[in-house]
Amino acid sequence: MAASLVVIVVALLVGVTVVAVKFLGPQQLAAVTASSSPSASSPASAPATPTPSATSVPSPTLTPTPAGFNKTQFSIDDPNSIWVVVNKLRPLADGADFVPPNLVDLPVDMPNPNGYQLRGDAEQALATMFDAAKSEIGTQLVAQSGYRDYSVQVKAYNYYVNLDGVAGADQTSARPGFSEHQTGLAMDILDTTSGCSTDGLCFANTDAGRWLAANAYRFGYILRYPADKTAVTGYEYEPWHFRYVGVDLATEMHNTGVETLEEFFGLPPAPDYAG
Ligand code: DAL
Ligand code: ZN
Repeated sequence: MAASLVVIVVALLVGVTVVAVKFLGPQQLAAVTASSSPSASSPASAPATPTPSATSVPSPTLTPTPAGFNKTQFSIDDPNSIWVVVNKLRPLADGADFVPPNLVDLPVDMPNPNGYQLRGDAEQALATMFDAAKSEIGTQLVAQSGYRDYSVQVKAYNYYVNLDGVAGADQTSARPGFSEHQTGLAMDILDTTSGCSTDGLCFANTDAGRWLAANAYRFGYILRYPADKTAVTGYEYEPWHFRYVGVDLATEMHNTGVETLEEFFGLPPAPDYAG
């Protein structure tokens, strides 16, 4: 009897389940299942705002402030500095006694007819520039005149005084103690083919002269005595005279179109010697 009752109850329960499945189709069943056990995709369980993934969130970075060019990075007064400004109003400290640090011979394969030296950093940049001129325009440059100590500058200046008198010499040659050549950072550059010299403006119209005027900054050199800047620099146009100041300063001057060190650093023009 009890066994019969159990059979009847089981049969009833199976019947109810079959009816439920029959009237609730697969989709309704799925919905029932979803509502009773929410998944991550359920609208009810989704957060109001999407949770940002690691890749979608910009990581905090420091916004770089445009630094501008630091004009006080190196001294313009210390004759050991690659930014030293030497002109008719700014003689070299120590005058006759000043000898720059780290003077080196030029590379043996560099035409250097007078056996000049330069400061090491200027010499390396010069070698790179000479190589670039050869590969870019096929021209061999010549290191015509580099570091000149005080006594050599005495001879150079006197040569021009004998030729042109003091007033004439002062337009093209620095008095001893006032020459960039004594810093070991200046080089007079010519080429092997044009036949031009450091007299006159012939070199300005050569491939080499034009290329140097346009490209020297890439190697840290500036054309120190440009045309039409005599009232600022104190010297006539010297298309051969290049001064090493480092790539940063040379590039900044190039980009800003400021041609002279006097103008760049806000120094007074130096057309004449004081007194
Ligand atoms: N020719 C340049 C000005 C010098 O003598 O230093
Ligand atoms: Zn020179």
